[in-house]
Amino acid sequence: MIGKLNHMAIAVPDLEAATATYRDVLGAKVSPAQPEPDHGVTVVFVELPNTKIELLHPLGEGSPIQGFLDKNPSGGIHHVCYEVDDILASRDRLKEQGARVLGDGEPKIGAHGKPVLFLHPKDFNGTLIELEQA
Ligand code: CO
Repeated sequence: MIGKLNHMAIAVPDLEAATATYRDVLGAKVSPAQPEPDHGVTVVFVELPNTKIELLHPLGEGSPIQGFLDKNPSGGIHHVCYEVDDILASRDRLKEQGARVLGDGEPKIGAHGKPVLFLHPKDFNGTLIELEQA
């Protein structure tokens, strides 16, 4: 059911420092910081030949990654995003198998303008999974 790794997201306490690390130390191509107020994050996209890394920093009140940074003050891997062909069919199949879909269970438009859903980390080895309809 799942296809390519679309991206891996890393929550970072200092977006400028993290961007500089990826650009200058690791020699990667990085995007300008992009505010995503609907998602409560500012994102920098790191382009790799086979996937992307997203550096996430909280934006505004009640950012979904603030709690994660409170528990992991130096940052850490926040979620992985797998591509699926049909997000509704994938959701229904997962629910039938007892997996918990976060929120109201309806896909939302994610940072790339495509429908996304998140799956409960307790059902997937402690990893928050994002599904994106490719
Ligand atoms: Co993501």
